Amino acid sequence: MKFLSQIPKKNLSGKTVLLRLDLNIQDNELKNSLRLKRSAATIIYLLSNKCSVVILSHKGRPSLAKQGISKSKFLITNKELSLKKISGKLSNIIGQKITFFDSFDFKKTKENILKHPLGEVFMLENLRFNKGEESNSVSFAKKLSSLGDVYINDAFAVSHRSNASVDAITEFLPSYAGLELESEIEAFKKVIGNPPKPLVLVIGGVKISDKIGVIKKFIGKAEWILTGGGVANTFFAAKGIPVGKSVFDKNSLGLAKKWISNKKIVLPDDVIVDGGEILDIGPKTVAHYTKIISSAKTFIWNGPMGMIENAKYQSGTIGLVKAMARSKDFSIVGGGETTSLILNKNLQSNVSFLSVGGGAMLEYLSGKKLPGLEALMRNKKSL
Ligand code: 3PG
Repeated sequence: MKFLSQIPKKNLSGKTVLLRLDLNIQDNELKNSLRLKRSAATIIYLLSNKCSVVILSHKGRPSLAKQGISKSKFLITNKELSLKKISGKLSNIIGQKITFFDSFDFKKTKENILKHPLGEVFMLENLRFNKGEESNSVSFAKKLSSLGDVYINDAFAVSHRSNASVDAITEFLPSYAGLELESEIEAFKKVIGNPPKPLVLVIGGVKISDKIGVIKKFIGKAEWILTGGGVANTFFAAKGIPVGKSVFDKNSLGLAKKWISNKKIVLPDDVIVDGGEILDIGPKTVAHYTKIISSAKTFIWNGPMGMIENAKYQSGTIGLVKAMARSKDFSIVGGGETTSLILNKNLQSNVSFLSVGGGAMLEYLSGKKLPGLEALMRNKKSL
C-alpha cells in the first residue's frame, strides 16, 4: 500500500486531490467529532502542500430511507442526509471556504473547479444519493475520478464497503492511504496478531450480530471479554434472566447460549434499569471491570455500555474510560458514540488510540479483508 505521507512534496504540489473522507456523522456528535478533526488534519496537510482538495463522502443510507426510494438514476435527495451542514462545520475547522456541489453534473463541476485558483477546497453532495456509489459502479467511479489527479482514501470507517468512491475509483488514479487511514493501520497492527497479554476485549452496543466475528476471533486469545449494552442483554436473555423491555438481539440467542458457559465472557454484576429497560451497567460492574482492565496489557473496546446519548446513562462507559488510564500497554477504542463521549469529557489521554471505525473496526479485527484497503493494495500507479 502507498501512503500520502510518503509522496514527495514536489510531486504533490499543484495537484487536485480527490479525498475520500467519512463524514457520516450524527448531528449530536458534530460538536466533538473525531472524524471531523482527523479529516481536517489531512485537508490542512494537503493545502500546506499546495494542493486543491475535492472531498468525497457519504452520509447515512439514503437507499434505505423512504424518501430516497426512486426508480430514477439519481435517488431523490433527502435533506437530513445532505452533507451541506457538515461542509460548513468542516470549513470552520480548517478556516477556509468549502465550495459545495449539490448536483452530480460532473462536467459542470469540473469546469467550476478549474475556474478556481489552486489551494481551494470543494465538496460533493452525499455520494450515496447516486445509485452508482453503493453498487461500486465503474462508470460512476470513472466520472468521480475525472475531477482530480490523485485519489486518497482517508476514510477507514467506510473501507469495509465496496463503494465506488472507496473501491472502483482506484482503477483510474494513483491511489494512496491518507494520514488518518495510515494511523488506523498502524494502531491495529498493535492489537492484531499476538499482542502483549493479558488481552481484554470490551464489547457493548446494541447488536450482538455485528460483533460475532470479533468475539469468535478473540475468544481463543483474549483473557477476558467484558460485555455491556445490548450484547450483555442478549447473554442475559440466553441465560433465562428476564430483560424486560431492554434491547437484545433475538437472532443471536442461539450463539449466546453456546458461548455463555465460556468463563472468559463476563456479564455485568449489576445494571441500571429505568422504565423496565436496562440502560447502563451499574457501579459494582464498573468496579469489577476496572479491576480486570487495570491488569490488561492490550485493551480493545467497541460499543458503549449503555444508552449514552442520554447523559443519565453515561456513567458505566465513562467509568471504563477512567479505568483505562490504569491499563499498562496499548488501548484502542472505536465507534462514533463512544469516541465522541470520550472527547466531550476530555478523557482522550486515557486511551492510546481512538479509532474512527465502528463497523470497519469490527470487520478488521475479525480478520476480514476490507475492500477499500485491498483496492489501495492493488493500485500500482504513482504520482
Ligand atoms: C460508519 O459510520 O460506520 C460508516 O460511515 C459506514 O456506514 P454504513 O454502515 O452506512 O456503510
